[in-house]
Amino acid sequence: MIIANGMAEIHFAPLQGYTDWIYRNNFARFFGGVDAYYTPFIRLESDNTFRNRDLRDIDPKNNSVPLLIPQILPGNADEFCKLTQLVRSKGYKKIDINLGCPFPLIAGKKKGAGMLPYPELVKEMLSPICDFPDVLFSVKMRLGWKNTSEAYNLIDIINNLRLEYITLHARIGIQQYKGTPDYESFSRFYQACEHSIFYNGDLKSGKELQEILEKFPKLRGVLIGRGLLSSPWVVADFRKNETKPDGERKNQVYAFHEALLNDYKNYLQGENQLLNKMKTLWDYLLPETDRKMVKRIRKSTKLSDYCSAVKQIFE
Ligand SMILES: Cc1cc2nc3c(=O)[nH]c(=O)nc-3n(C[C@H](O)[C@H](O)[C@H](O)COP(=O)(O)O)c2cc1C
Repeated sequence: MIIANGMAEIHFAPLQGYTDWIYRNNFARFFGGVDAYYTPFIRLESDNTFRNRDLRDIDPKNNSVPLLIPQILPGNADEFCKLTQLVRSKGYKKIDINLGCPFPLIAGKKKGAGMLPYPELVKEMLSPICDFPDVLFSVKMRLGWKNTSEAYNLIDIINNLRLEYITLHARIGIQQYKGTPDYESFSRFYQACEHSIFYNGDLKSGKELQEILEKFPKLRGVLIGRGLLSSPWVVADFRKNETKPDGERKNQVYAFHEALLNDYKNYLQGENQLLNKMKTLWDYLLPETDRKMVKRIRKSTKLSDYCSAVKQIFE
């Protein structure tokens, strides 16, 4: 396979509930191949405090991946400053800003993708960028909340900001994660945007990655989320231009699973928490697995049942 753009960067998307520090560290140890990892969004609570789990997730002591970029979800300039100060105080020099979250509880408050229809709010929220000259900011956004002209209408604001790059998920917010990516609207924004751009949306294989890099040759890179939760080897294989035999692949994924189990066991309290955490892995992992086996996993109420169901899959 000829790599379309050998210089293209590949980043691992943030996925709230999935890509925490334990997951990211083990992913990098067993698969790797990606240039940067993001934390799921960090936000302020209504009483202006931070969530403990967010603090743990960005604690440099907990993180061992080569490049970690914390992501913040501010609703206004004041929250932007508080979140940036927190992240910067931990020693990070790059921060990603979330303008793409479609969760109704967030978007309903005009945060994440819910802010996209309001250019004045976006401008105000991003205005403190110039107050942090030692930080490199990027923005992760969608094509809009309700329609694809919303992100396009922000292009002058965005082009005038000091940003390292934009990551554009080629969907609108009300689509959530369904439907197909809109390449035409992506292309319109990509042509007009003066910052480097990363493509995001539905990449699952080396072939799809290659095709998108060919379709949009000016891309600085791509961001992949669910494709890596399902097939964590995809990027490493793409980089090395190889395909491992099935047996070797199974052993690799099993070893990854066992390391996650071990690390979550040391961190989470009690069997129930651990079991629930491990079950969520199977929301995406190895989608071609026999559905009966996955059902056994989902129905397990004891860790021993869970482990024997998983063992059967990897035998
Ligand atoms: C369960 C879930 C949680 C997500 N959490 C975040 C998040 O915290 N921050 C963010 O910017 N995007 C989040 N996303 C969006 C992904 O980063 C990504 O943009 C989206 O899944 C599309 O890329 P993909 O098709 O490669 O998965 C989340 C997506 C899912 C499905």
